Amino acid sequence: MPRGSLPLATMLATLLAACGGSGEGLDANGRPLTPGGGSGGPLSADFGAIQQHVFTPICSVCHAGGAAPQGLRLDAANSYAMLVGVASTESPGVLRVAPGDPDRSYLIQKLEGHAAVGARMPLGGPYLDADTMALLRQWIANGAQRGT
Ligand code: HEC
Repeated sequence: MPRGSLPLATMLATLLAACGGSGEGLDANGRPLTPGGGSGGPLSADFGAIQQHVFTPICSVCHAGGAAPQGLRLDAANSYAMLVGVASTESPGVLRVAPGDPDRSYLIQKLEGHAAVGARMPLGGPYLDADTMALLRQWIANGAQRGT
């Protein structure tokens, strides 16, 4: 038996079987329901989804690299470590994300436009909608876990 041929066939069969599932999360044409067709599923109160749908596409346009405003990088490689349990630069008495306490998280204050310093985020808008804000608050209220 030639090495490799059977495992490949097995893998393909497994993939095909996986695709033939219930179609949950897909539209009638088999495309993901998420706008933009992201591979990570819809926005949810989960760090990975928030990164994919908010921080990476909207925030990291400005908040990335060495010149990131207030040293806050929101690209996927840096955002969690720079947010959770870390003091705000503008208001050092407030954590950017205080696990379990959305109201006292500077991130939320900036996104809702009532932070003590500076402008509402994302700077210049358009601002995040109520559903997105509710999921961000939920993620923090649930302990701001990194997840998988
Ligand atoms: C157009 C550029 C731009 C975009 C887009 C942007 N920001 Fe900002 N951000 C800034 C600037 C400039 C500051 C500092 C001045 C201010 O606060 O008004 C800032 C400051 C902040 C701060 C305060 C950091 C600290 O430690 O004090 C937070 C939190 C923040 N932004 C979050 C976000 C989030 C979350 C998004 C995406 C939803 C976002 N920003 C999108 C430019 C931007």
